[in-house]
Amino acid sequence: MKAAIVYESLYGNTHAIANAIAQGLEGIAEPHVMSVEEAGQAQPTATDLLVVGGPTHIHGMSRKPMWELAVKDALEHPEKGLVPAATAGGPGLRAWFESLDKTTGKAAAFDTRLEGNELLTGHASKGIAKRLRQHGLELIAEPASFLVDATNQLLPGELDRAREWGKTLGTAISATT
Ligand SMILES: Cc1cc2nc3c(=O)[nH]c(=O)nc-3n(C[C@H](O)[C@H](O)[C@H](O)COP(=O)(O)O)c2cc1C
Repeated sequence: MKAAIVYESLYGNTHAIANAIAQGLEGIAEPHVMSVEEAGQAQPTATDLLVVGGPTHIHGMSRKPMWELAVKDALEHPEKGLVPAATAGGPGLRAWFESLDKTTGKAAAFDTRLEGNELLTGHASKGIAKRLRQHGLELIAEPASFLVDATNQLLPGELDRAREWGKTLGTAISATT
């Protein structure tokens, strides 16, 4: 079984979570982690499971202007210790979904977001899940959020939780194929 994990990440948290999800899938499926920029080069082909994740920006999926402001802020204020990924400023998940053909298969959505009440923080995974469904994919798990603190560090235990989530996805997909 093949699994594609497509992520958008400005500061690396969502990328790290994507890698941990892949680790959880290993042994059950053959995971392939790719940034949304890489995924934009080609439609994900022949995959049994498509997992898509991104950072929560202003309560939902990132938008290009906000992304550009965040990159500018990080570059102008190095004391904050935020390092934009080399690919930051690429098309982003919203544009990628617009270019994605309708398809069939199984999928799951995740995000990273601030710790706290999700009614206040919002979560990008809801919008991602909606777009996966609109493209014809069947969600095999509830959208998942992995949490960071106010300094943009993943909370202790979140990488382990992502590995466990990946394992759960792998088990669910192997039961249905
Ligand atoms: C411009 C911007 C807006 C953000 N808005 C929210 C928000 O509305 N809710 C939230 O929970 N986190 C918000 N965050 C925090 C990010 O979701 C969090 O830092 C995430 O882990 C970043 O992922 P990345 O390291 O993969 O870029 C925001 C971060 C930035 C840079």
